[in-house]
Amino acid sequence: MNDQDPTIDTLLHESRSFPPPPEFAAAAHANDPAIYDQADADWEGWWERWASRLQWDQPWQQVLDWQAPYAKWFVGGKLNASVQCLDRHVDAGHGNRVAYYWEGESGDKRTLTYADMLAEVCHTANALKELGVQRGDRVTLYMPMVPELAISVLACTRIGAIFSVVFAGFSATSLQDRIQDQEAKLVICADACSRRGKCLDLKAVVDEAVANCPTIEKVLVWHRGAGVASASPVSDREVAWEDLVPRQKDQCPPASMDAEDPLFILYTSGTTGKPKGIVHTTGGYLTGALATSKLVFDLKPAQDVYWCTADIGWITGHSYIVFGPMANGVTQVMYEGAPDYPAPDRFWSLVDDYKVSVFYTAPTAIRAFMKWGDEHPEAHDLSSLRLLGTVGEPINPEAWMWYRNKIGHDLCPIVDTWWQTETGGIMISPLPGITATVPGSAMHTFPGVEARLLDQEGKEVEGAGGGYLVLTRPWPSMLRGLWRDPERYEETYWSRFPGKYFAGDGAKRDEHGNLWVLGRVDDVMNVSGHRLSTMEIESALVAHEAVAEAAVIGVAHDLKGQAPVGFVILRGGFEATPELAQTLRQHVATEIGGLARPEAVHFTPELPKTRSGKIMRRLLRDVAEGKALGDLTTLADPGVLTGLKQEYESA
Ligand code: WTA
Repeated sequence: MNDQDPTIDTLLHESRSFPPPPEFAAAAHANDPAIYDQADADWEGWWERWASRLQWDQPWQQVLDWQAPYAKWFVGGKLNASVQCLDRHVDAGHGNRVAYYWEGESGDKRTLTYADMLAEVCHTANALKELGVQRGDRVTLYMPMVPELAISVLACTRIGAIFSVVFAGFSATSLQDRIQDQEAKLVICADACSRRGKCLDLKAVVDEAVANCPTIEKVLVWHRGAGVASASPVSDREVAWEDLVPRQKDQCPPASMDAEDPLFILYTSGTTGKPKGIVHTTGGYLTGALATSKLVFDLKPAQDVYWCTADIGWITGHSYIVFGPMANGVTQVMYEGAPDYPAPDRFWSLVDDYKVSVFYTAPTAIRAFMKWGDEHPEAHDLSSLRLLGTVGEPINPEAWMWYRNKIGHDLCPIVDTWWQTETGGIMISPLPGITATVPGSAMHTFPGVEARLLDQEGKEVEGAGGGYLVLTRPWPSMLRGLWRDPERYEETYWSRFPGKYFAGDGAKRDEHGNLWVLGRVDDVMNVSGHRLSTMEIESALVAHEAVAEAAVIGVAHDLKGQAPVGFVILRGGFEATPELAQTLRQHVATEIGGLARPEAVHFTPELPKTRSGKIMRRLLRDVAEGKALGDLTTLADPGVLTGLKQEYESA
């Protein structure tokens, strides 16, 4: 826990409030506020009703077995995840409905129906079997936003293999650490991807990573074909997708999995140098994904075109590009590329071309759109939009208003959704047909979910006020643990306030009972909606031969929300030059991935520390953000800080 206390900030006052447009509310799946009380009165029953909308091979005997902090949902039930997303819709006669309209950065297009997806998933699942993948084996996916990523995810679930997607912007070291932690048997990757017209060699990253991964038996490589070829050498573990997958059978019987069998592992940064492998299971996760996407995005399968701009490498893509929307049988847009390529209107031209009706993106993107100028959305017909969403970080009211006005033309409700990799699905959000939304507030807990604010001592903050955000009831899509690390699971989430799930965020409740999530209160920063650990970046810096000691903080950044900044003490014999600062920034990108590259690296002869030797990051943040220096009484040597401030200001 760091030294930011959410309970001492001043309260926010925002008087604007936007009720749902009457026509929207009239047609919405959820438009009766009584839904909240009904769900609260019997929350197990509420979730059970959602679970029964899935297709089970065998019903459960017990809804919930809660031995805090370990939950089992739908105990004894059996089902297959890919069946929920594919067979159910094809069997109901919707095989011809488009599942994904895919578009690549250079304008290439593909359309896959639900029937196409089912066939592709079966081919791939059979291919995985031929490669020796069995139920319970781990398969690591390292792919850009192409349909084959969603296909590979679902193919793993088809045969009961546990998949783990690693965002394709992570470095070879990060990929290697994840493969080693989960002892994966297979990697599925693409040879390359293009970003702003530049070809990135993904397979070279995989080759480097798997060189140190003895558990990997095969690497299945999907090649993009003409024009974008990988130059890296072929190892004997490598199998080409084109040689193996298309010749497989069209059918693959779905493995009947236990509701509590792991579905996937997804790594996220914690407060230590080592990322946490968040484990989600099958029945509960799907129940949460189905319910939240249906009610929060008001998805209507035969009419909506839904587009979530996240990457499947993050939890948002898992829950709201693959499982939630597909379990609801909706049509989606999937786009591989940058929002400003070839021009800053790319997203709006996609919305226009595909007549997108529900659009889900991140505040960092909205702030970039604002900066690029109103002329870009104005150049396109956005009248197909009926609902807008955001996720990943707190949204500032100005960005919210711009989104409402320039993208939604004051007609679309906005759902600001708070949740986490750990929660699996949305926990706090408006319901668009019920909630009068307030710019910047995520509003209320999803029906059936209960949140509380606690003070330092764990005492509940009632009414208006700020505190640590905790969830007090188990929910179906909650993480079941960290991959093979129960102690860290208990310690991270359940020890600060015993018996309650501590999210790591601070939040406020205003006088109307609306919730405002303020952001992390631990040593995790949020860069463009992505979680990064200060410790992880510090370890990367210290791994460089020039660095003796390093401290990293997240500083406020106009577009990214926060950006990492490093303070470094050099080893003897190294000179503090701008070139070395540049090298160190690049070094972090190489060690972790481009998203972790520090905005700046500053050299300092010393770091501000407490008498017990703990680095006081709060003070570094104050220096970096140009704020007045606060209480220095616990500092071992206050002189360090004045020196640092001078140096920082002259840099
Ligand atoms: C932050 C992303 C404020 C928060 C789905 C959380 C938010 C972390 C919001 C989880 C929001 C996410 N308002 N903060 N609407 N959504 N966060 O695991 O700090 O990548 O703890 O999951 O993002 O990030 P994660």
